[in-house]
Amino acid sequence: MSARILSGKEFATKIKEAAKEDALAFRDEYGFMPGLAVIIIGEDSASQVYVRNKNKACEELGFHSEMIALPADTSKDELLSRIDALNADKKISGILVQLPLPKALQPFEYDVLNRIDPMKDVDGFHPVNVGRLVTGQESLVPCTPAGCVRMLELADIPIDGANAVIIGRSNIVGKPMMSLLLKKSATVTVCHSHTKNLAEICRNADVLVAAIGKPLFVKADMVKPGATVIDVGINRIEPKKLVGDVDYDSVKEVAGAITPVPGGVGLLTIAMLMANTVKAAKLQAGRI
Ligand code: GUN
Repeated sequence: MSARILSGKEFATKIKEAAKEDALAFRDEYGFMPGLAVIIIGEDSASQVYVRNKNKACEELGFHSEMIALPADTSKDELLSRIDALNADKKISGILVQLPLPKALQPFEYDVLNRIDPMKDVDGFHPVNVGRLVTGQESLVPCTPAGCVRMLELADIPIDGANAVIIGRSNIVGKPMMSLLLKKSATVTVCHSHTKNLAEICRNADVLVAAIGKPLFVKADMVKPGATVIDVGINRIEPKKLVGDVDYDSVKEVAGAITPVPGGVGLLTIAMLMANTVKAAKLQAGRI
């Protein structure tokens, strides 16, 4: 039997509708809509697409939105002073610096992310928010893992007591996903490139999250029949062909539920960014 397809669009729409309702209630009370600023440095083409989609989502929901495109040779000091200005700007509820940074700025990635006011950190990458997430305190949570967990809840897929296996240990997905699933009482295993018996560990998963950036890495024989498979990968294998980290065509015959690529997790990320922007506005207003 073929798996239930978890449509990113369906769940993203629900998340955005809730965010819009929240934003309108915020506006009624405070007189302005939440605002998102996205800084993009350089010409990375995938990043340009993501940033345009973020802008579109803001328009769709009626949020204030500012896109700041800076040249690839922007200095660290210039970037930091842009962030300072946005930190001080009352119209801006959330700030996102699109990653990856150009090569010359990469050594300063943490300086850049750490400069963002933690209450405006809609990516949830600031150490204050990372620490709050790990300790189970209210925080801004990275959009991709937060969107995936929200989708599991909306789809009524049990997390409490489930064996969750995450392949990938990045700061953006793997590690925050671990914290979120643990908080919801899953038994969590995090695998990575040095893991032994990876396939065997994956076959034990009720919920399997692939976030490694290797095209079609997860094969049908790594998946327990009936498991939920979440594919966070977006890999361009031909100029016009995107595939995930999961071999979708074969895995969908084994899994109980699966997210497609494209049309899966990517849409949830942007929806969650909108939700985080409202949450940031409420945090700054002392409402959370
Ligand atoms: N690049 C790829 N994913 C992300 C993300 O979630 N946030 C930011 N800022 N950059 C990214």
